Amino acid sequence: MHALDGFVVAVSRVRVHHMELGETVVRKVRRRGLGPVIALGNAYFREAGAAFHMFPVLGDWQAWEARMYRALHDVDITPIARGLEVPRFPGDDLGSLLRRGQLLRAPLRAAADALRGLHDRGLSHGDANLGNFVFDGTLARPIDFDARHHDELPLAVRAADDLLALALDLFGRGASVEAATTVIDAYRPSSEVRAALGRAAAPSGLSARTLLRARAHALAEEPLARALTALLELPEPANPVHSTA
Ligand SMILES: Nc1ncnc2c1ncn2[C@@H]1O[C@H](COP(=O)(O)OP(=O)(O)O)[C@@H](O)[C@H]1O
Ligand SMILES: [Mg+2]
Repeated sequence: MHALDGFVVAVSRVRVHHMELGETVVRKVRRRGLGPVIALGNAYFREAGAAFHMFPVLGDWQAWEARMYRALHDVDITPIARGLEVPRFPGDDLGSLLRRGQLLRAPLRAAADALRGLHDRGLSHGDANLGNFVFDGTLARPIDFDARHHDELPLAVRAADDLLALALDLFGRGASVEAATTVIDAYRPSSEVRAALGRAAAPSGLSARTLLRARAHALAEEPLARALTALLELPEPANPVHSTA
């Protein structure tokens, strides 16, 4: 592992929140003193040309997470000291399913549908990793909005970044390329999103490439390149969905 990869991976694994999973609610509280760490992370993300940023200011995160829960799940969430209380959705997140060998096609397709639904409304996730979809057997509900895409980016770029985030997390956690192709096939990206995905998957510059690898859990360069190539050489879907995303 390159020294810079190690640094980026270490920073990206800093636990920003303390979670309490109750039977019906989840309490998420930000650890103290993390504002400057998040600001430093954002400076790195900017340098690396990332499409997303995090929220150094506690109130900004609370407001954004509340806005997304309202928009996507039609629930008003309760702010608590240094955090939020959200309803606990039934089921398991996709990362847990993968760990148990249960990440089959249905949850992957459901995550693709969830992203499609978000993007068709002009929204995007900003941190679409496996842990941020809770699958109940039918729906994969997006959660965890402590990162956000840069507002001014075109929807196709934000959409492609969400798809890439899922694919990189899958590759980094040792899932098959087929798992990622299942997501892309189910999502049916427009040619615009496909093009943005191709650009995002092959960044130039050391920091951008380092960030890409960090998002794939520092997977070695060669298997990552192989997986991304296999993913992006997919044939065009026979009947692509025509939308802005
Ligand atoms: N609303 C929710 N319903 C069900 N499970 C949740 C919910 N929120 C969080 N979780 C569980 O807690 C885990 C961590 O929560 P998350 O909001 O993603 O925080 P983090 O910032 O630590 O990634 C998720 O991967 C999921 O398993
Ligand atoms: Mg999460």
